[in-house]
Amino acid sequence: MSVLIKNGRIITASADTLADIFIEGETIKTIGKNLHVAADEVIDAEGMLVFPGGIDPHVHLEMPFMGTFSSDTYETGTRAALYGGTTTVIDFILQTQGRSLKDALTEWQSRATGNAVGDYSFHMAVTDFNEDTKKEIKQMVEEEGITSFKTFMAYKGALMVDDRQMVGLMQEVKKQGGMVTAHATNGDMIDYLVAKHKSEGKLSPLYHYLSQPEVTEAEASGRFAHMAAYTGCPAYIVHLTCEGALNAVRDAGKHNYQVFAETCIQYLLLDASLYEQDFEGAKWVMSPPLRELKDQRALWAGINQGLLQVVATDHCPFMWEQKKMGEKDFSKIPNGHPAIENRIELLYSEGVAKGKISLNKFVEVSSTNAAKIFGMFPRKGTIAVGSDADILIFDPNAKHTLSAKHHHMNVDYSAYEGWELTGKVKTVLLRGKVVIDNNHCLVEKGNGTFIKRNKVSNII
Ligand code: URP
Ligand code: ZN
Ligand code: ZN
Ligand code: ZN
Repeated sequence: MSVLIKNGRIITASADTLADIFIEGETIKTIGKNLHVAADEVIDAEGMLVFPGGIDPHVHLEMPFMGTFSSDTYETGTRAALYGGTTTVIDFILQTQGRSLKDALTEWQSRATGNAVGDYSFHMAVTDFNEDTKKEIKQMVEEEGITSFKTFMAYKGALMVDDRQMVGLMQEVKKQGGMVTAHATNGDMIDYLVAKHKSEGKLSPLYHYLSQPEVTEAEASGRFAHMAAYTGCPAYIVHLTCEGALNAVRDAGKHNYQVFAETCIQYLLLDASLYEQDFEGAKWVMSPPLRELKDQRALWAGINQGLLQVVATDHCPFMWEQKKMGEKDFSKIPNGHPAIENRIELLYSEGVAKGKISLNKFVEVSSTNAAKIFGMFPRKGTIAVGSDADILIFDPNAKHTLSAKHHHMNVDYSAYEGWELTGKVKTVLLRGKVVIDNNHCLVEKGNGTFIKRNKVSNII
């Protein structure tokens, strides 16, 4: 099977070229002007932008969490990702405390294998670091292609690890050529504030926000960065939301130590005023919570200054019925919001079309940097000869409105209901195959494959 994409404006992290792309099988064979080659399928991309397929390195599909499961399966979640121009996602395996990493891997494989529509990989969340877990790190890196290890510095009593475990994990992961990532908020402080608000009868979603003030994130981000610097372990902060945490990352840079950091689309676009309405605010109950306008400004600047390398989603959807588990107690609202399908179009419309980031920066933070940091580059994350033909053909002028009425995520509300966007996904190719065309999905479950990742780098 061969495909020729003609006359598109190809944007990578570093280039902007009018050219044709010739694809043979799963990979890009030739890139050049006016290619005269016979192809089984010819796509005219005149007037379109041609990007590498999006990579979302932070999603939670069918995740057991807070007494329920996130509502997108591997099938629905990766399909919705493709509709939104994201061809590869990295999901989080959660170790059960007291059990092995291998057990958790087997469980996640049983959910993903044969069901994913788009490509996927796994991070391993270590929730119980001990002598047995330590022995499994090498196997994960060398045999399973799982090279990033996630820690939670919050969710006390459930997923949280203490600093003793963190430092031990960092030393082992560094030795094996991996990376440690963190949900960096101060779990003890949050635990105290949640209990305090509850004892005062303050039970609405607003108190979820007030239980996780900026300092809880700034402190933990700084602590994580210092532990990473001490151990020399490559490090990455997930879902960074605020100016204080960003300053901790900046400070690490001043000491000539790089801590990679990711923000998520919601923290760039939404703010904490959404919690001021009654229970409706539960739609945006996530951890860390939405912040303030000054934080949004800091995050956009952080992207342009290269302090934040990735814009992900932390996609973790729950049906409204599931959110209502916390109707009488904010601490029981399952944490997370749906965005896997909306990330690329939101970032283009609100970032590129409104002049906040350049086209090249858009590609960097939506695809290339995640591929580089997490050991998938140059197979994924760029448009180059030899790379997987994961390609997003994007109409920069099309206008459309986001709504739960026509999204493909398995969730009955949209966190961006009624948002009017400029720029729309038109055609998506995954490993050389057209998977989305004009809002139709052309492939079935089982189309997605697991991507084994290489050892990671602490320089990009
Ligand atoms: O609220 C969130 N973020 N839910 C998913 C779990 C996590 O902390 O990433
Ligand atoms: Zn988290
Ligand atoms: Zn310092
Ligand atoms: Zn998450």
